[in-house]
Amino acid sequence: MKTPLSSSPSSSSSLLRKARLSPYYLFTFFAFISIRQETYREEESEVAVFELVGQMEGCDDVFSGKWVWDEENHPLYEESECPYIQPQLTCQEHGRPEKDYQFWRWQPHGCSLPSFNATLMLETLRGKRMMFVGDSLNRGQYVSMVCLLHRLLPEESKSMKTNGSLTIFTAKDYNATIEFYWAPFLLESNSDDAVIHRITDRLVRRGSINKHGRYWKGADILVFNTYLWWMTGLNFKILQGSFDDEVKDIVELSTEDAYRMGMKSMLRWVRKNMDPKRTRVFFASMSPSHQKSIDWGGEAQRQLLQPNHHDLGPILLGKQWGPLTPEQLANPVSYADCVHWCLPGLQDTWNELLFAKLFYP
Ligand SMILES: *[C@@H]1O[C@H](CO)[C@@H](O)[C@H](O)[C@H]1NC(C)=O
Ligand SMILES: *[C@@H]1O[C@H](CO)[C@@H](O)[C@H](O)[C@H]1NC(C)=O
Ligand SMILES: *[C@@H]1O[C@H](CO)[C@@H](O)[C@H](O)[C@H]1NC(C)=O
Repeated sequence: MKTPLSSSPSSSSSLLRKARLSPYYLFTFFAFISIRQETYREEESEVAVFELVGQMEGCDDVFSGKWVWDEENHPLYEESECPYIQPQLTCQEHGRPEKDYQFWRWQPHGCSLPSFNATLMLETLRGKRMMFVGDSLNRGQYVSMVCLLHRLLPEESKSMKTNGSLTIFTAKDYNATIEFYWAPFLLESNSDDAVIHRITDRLVRRGSINKHGRYWKGADILVFNTYLWWMTGLNFKILQGSFDDEVKDIVELSTEDAYRMGMKSMLRWVRKNMDPKRTRVFFASMSPSHQKSIDWGGEAQRQLLQPNHHDLGPILLGKQWGPLTPEQLANPVSYADCVHWCLPGLQDTWNELLFAKLFYP
């Protein structure tokens, strides 16, 4: 299997289990970590920029719950009515025969998620920048967010433009932008080209977050993710000097230490550059890849994904990177994309969760 996020399935999944890089993995499917949430609680009177709509009663943990079949309210939009979905994720157009994956709703155990209110979201974004930073999973969530909002905007007052690592969706009448910045490690790396980045021998430069971070300054809402690109094996190569050095100074760290270095850089950048009174910062935790059915194993996950987790993935028929051979077609496992998610689909749920965390913290 080859995708932009490709990594050896067995090594990444076993590492996942070994490294326990996130305590959330075992009992949640996905979580947003709201960075410096405490600050907002303490200084609630000053959170004028983001009107809090209310509290979710009984919802200490929206990430603990189950999937519920909901044909009445889902999907939240149609694949064909959102022109911004990249071909990799338009599963109906590429021949996926059913739509079962579009009808699942996330039901927390203690409460119900508020309905995604696109009007409220757009009003809140007036005069603001919302930015997703990370890898192609975050790009999927970014596109989902644009799909959830764009219907409220007339054709002539919206646009989407890509320049290198930065993609900007503009809602002109609102003077608002929703942006995606490609930085799969957040730090500078040899995989930073937004188009040509499928490099097997990955290298990340220590202390280099400003290389990309200067493009994030001024964002009002930031949603980071980084995870899967680090999962190449037990060790990871870190560049100490510069990519221009003739003789490169490279050290190998355990993948866990390398990832920790990345997370610390991100947190330092946030502390230095984001105003906790005016802005919100989120970190989206890992999305499980699921190359083998055993990867779905474990009691907690089995329960989370019942009653029929197969309906949530994998992508069997998104646009492929090359034409499929008859042998491949006969054996879907050989080309299935078990990393990304069809849209509309699961990633809309991530935005419903983000919406809940933004307005009902
Ligand atoms: C959505 O938000 C708008 C703006 O705050 C509000 O007027 C409207 O009543 C909300 N809609 C629903 C269904 O809650
Ligand atoms: C538009 O939004 C930007 C922030 O993204 C702000 O600096 C600028 O003043 C706004 N312009 C108008 C006309 O409101
Ligand atoms: C694209 O980005 C580069 C680097 O940030 C910038 O110099 C250039 O002006 C941009 N091009 C367009 C067409 O916006």
